[in-house]
Amino acid sequence: LLFGGCNEKEAPQKLRVGVTYYDQNDTYLNELIGLFKESLKEIESDKLEVSVTIRDAAGVQKNQNDQVEELIDEGCNILCVNLVDRADPSEIIDLARESEVPIIFFNREPVAEDLRQWEKLYYVGADAKQSGKLQGELAVEMIEENPQIDKNKDGKIQYVVLEGEMGHQDAIIRTENAVNTLKENGIEVEKLSCKIANWNRAQAQNRMEQIIGEYQNKIELVLGNNDDMALGAVDAYKKLNYTSAALPAFMGIDGTEAGLQGVENQELWGTVYNDKEGQAKAMAELAAALFTREGMEDIHFQNEKYVYLPYYKVTAENVSKFTQGNLVSE
Ligand code: BGC
Ligand code: CA
Repeated sequence: LLFGGCNEKEAPQKLRVGVTYYDQNDTYLNELIGLFKESLKEIESDKLEVSVTIRDAAGVQKNQNDQVEELIDEGCNILCVNLVDRADPSEIIDLARESEVPIIFFNREPVAEDLRQWEKLYYVGADAKQSGKLQGELAVEMIEENPQIDKNKDGKIQYVVLEGEMGHQDAIIRTENAVNTLKENGIEVEKLSCKIANWNRAQAQNRMEQIIGEYQNKIELVLGNNDDMALGAVDAYKKLNYTSAALPAFMGIDGTEAGLQGVENQELWGTVYNDKEGQAKAMAELAAALFTREGMEDIHFQNEKYVYLPYYKVTAENVSKFTQGNLVSE
């Protein structure tokens, strides 16, 4: 009370965030991390200073383990980890626990058992099942409204899948849920081919060229586990000079910049928005709450450790809402 009038300013606390992600060539992650940096700026105040260091693990788990050690040595007090191998977080968890540095895993979900290894482990991401289901629903709507998609008029939709990395929570689950949703809605489907293209546009183009070589005009629908792979499939047809009437319908997931543009240009029939703004904001808020020990009660956890942001369907009709980045306010 005596000193109450002095009004001396307290020095701000310094939140130092260390980020490591599996591969700097990943389109979606680069966009997500860019937004995360913005969200961290937004939580700065006269009480809280924030700095961030970002490392690329270049697809090697061992690199990432070393990076985590370095980030801790450099004084990071919160870690955000996008695992290379989502089944292998133990070394990272041990390092963090020894130094009492909480970890927010993101986008590549560790198995539940690993997240239980220590109480200061969290996950921010989205529900793979929902994205597959929404992609399936978009495909159903599109097929019902556009009977010409069944090019050979045999009453079945001949489809191809371009799948993400093996072992990634978003790969097989997206495929299964998209295809099951088609079937549950009474669409008869016939699988021509399913190839892994590791989320990558160039690989997807290459796989698609092989598939076209085998099936030519029989392909009616291409389901990409993400936008980059759906766009890679479009690239393959462009390279082979197909006319637009001869093209199958392409569907993506993510709503990356290129993906949304693909929907705008009507190269993609639809995509499913993987809410990177929402995830970035949730990560920033959680980082601040863990560090300052204030505001944890405002975070919407599932099972105490998980924050899942919902997906949204994107078509030519509503794409402008997403390109203007104002979906979060809805
Ligand atoms: C995204 C992909 C991305 C992958 C990386 C997925 O959730 O849909 O575009 O490549 O995460 O882990
Ligand atoms: Ca057909």
